[in-house]
Amino acid sequence: RIPEPLALVVFGATGDLMRRKLMPALWRLKQEGMLPDDFAIVGNAREATDDADFRERMRGALAEFAKEPDAAEWEAFSHRLRFVGGSTDDPSTFVQLAKVLGEVDKECGTRGNRLFYLALPPSVVAQTAEGLGRAGLVCHPEDRCYTRIIVEKPFGRDLDSAKALNASLLKVFAEPQIFRIDHYLGKETLQNLLVFRFANTIWEPLWQRNYVDHVQITVSETVGVESRAGYYDRSGALRDMIQSHLLQILTLVAMEPPASYDADSIRNEKVKVLQAIPLLQGEDIDRYAVRGQYAASEESSASEKDGEKGASMPAYRDEKDVPEGSRTETFAALRLLVDNWRWAGVPFYLRTGKRLPAKQSEVVIRFRPAPHPVRDQVQDDTPAPNALVLHIQPDEGISLFFEAKVPGIRGPLRPVSMDFKYTSAFEGAESPEAYQRLLLDAMLGDATLFARRDEVEAAWTLITPILQAWEAGGEPDPYPANSWGPECATELLAREGRSWHEPT
Ligand code: BG6
Repeated sequence: RIPEPLALVVFGATGDLMRRKLMPALWRLKQEGMLPDDFAIVGNAREATDDADFRERMRGALAEFAKEPDAAEWEAFSHRLRFVGGSTDDPSTFVQLAKVLGEVDKECGTRGNRLFYLALPPSVVAQTAEGLGRAGLVCHPEDRCYTRIIVEKPFGRDLDSAKALNASLLKVFAEPQIFRIDHYLGKETLQNLLVFRFANTIWEPLWQRNYVDHVQITVSETVGVESRAGYYDRSGALRDMIQSHLLQILTLVAMEPPASYDADSIRNEKVKVLQAIPLLQGEDIDRYAVRGQYAASEESSASEKDGEKGASMPAYRDEKDVPEGSRTETFAALRLLVDNWRWAGVPFYLRTGKRLPAKQSEVVIRFRPAPHPVRDQVQDDTPAPNALVLHIQPDEGISLFFEAKVPGIRGPLRPVSMDFKYTSAFEGAESPEAYQRLLLDAMLGDATLFARRDEVEAAWTLITPILQAWEAGGEPDPYPANSWGPECATELLAREGRSWHEPT
């Protein structure tokens, strides 16, 4: 399906997200014939620049993060790019924007349809939405044109601010017009998780407390804070990753099959999962929520890709723009329960961190151990529990680990795996970038892969007591850069006789 004609208005259009992700995604959509012919991009940022400079920057962004565009093709497309400078706290910015959008409608045939993309910090989201409303830039559902708004994460800083943000947005937009983006939901493997679970009957009987011992969700990164300390130091791993990406993954793993596959049926089931998770409170926070912060390391294998081979890695506290003595966590791990019929008593362990040894996102479903020895128990014959590993990135795919006998008269048992890899199973097929899919869905008005108001608030309900406890005192445990996090993360599982799956 090709979207209707529209103008995409990006606030924060000279920022990193636009250069690295949005512009390359839009260009790919265009090249794949998935953008309407009558399309325009209007950029806004505080800095004063003009159409020509904005177009040149976007061409540069494509050259750096996608592919140098063909000159003739770019020439034909670039006149659809316009720029409106000005701050979102200045009403005249919106007056100017309205004027340019009127021109764009005439020149590019965009018919009054608008998709506003707020690549902005949460502190200015409400004022931007209000500015759009005041300038008459928001169509009503009964109008012939449509207006939608995409809001980037982080969506608030805690439950109260997320509620306030929702309330401000809802003064101007109706819920179906609001698209809260979480780019993890656009990843191919997460899409496939629903297909894997609900298009195959073999997993369903196993997907529950009688067979599953526990679930692990790991999102590890090799990078440090990079140049984002200004944002990251006020955020930390719990807000930056767990509140959004990891809890989203958890909902997809744990949700019940929806009655139908429309946006609301799926999101209803996801919200129910979040609502079934008991809050960590009081001593349980110390017991089941751990945090770490990376310390310096001499060795650097993880950052070889970054061209830093052999370089030592600095401690978080010594990174540029990190305040001295910062207590921000760069690693967080939680043990949560999903207290419903399917999952009662099955722990879900979540961990994420920066400066870990590998960039890897995976879900591990660890099954219960076999109830009886397979033959007279001898050393090497204790079967390892079965595991199903969903590799979200990189090397997207699924591995099933089970026990086999090593050939030989008295061969011991060894775990072996059956592997499905996207690259070999669907040779030549390329997974679209998450932003490509999500932008297209928002243009089409499909909100399935976007978080609904109650979903975001339910996630903050879980996270806020932990944030408050951590902000009230204590320090994150240090871990050497390029290691799998602090000792307390190992203990979180070891206490219960379990261990983290080592990503391969
Ligand atoms: C972002 C976080 O949402 O996700 C970043 O703000 C993090 O801190 C990034 O690096 C990870 O995304 P991906 O797609 O590279 O795993």
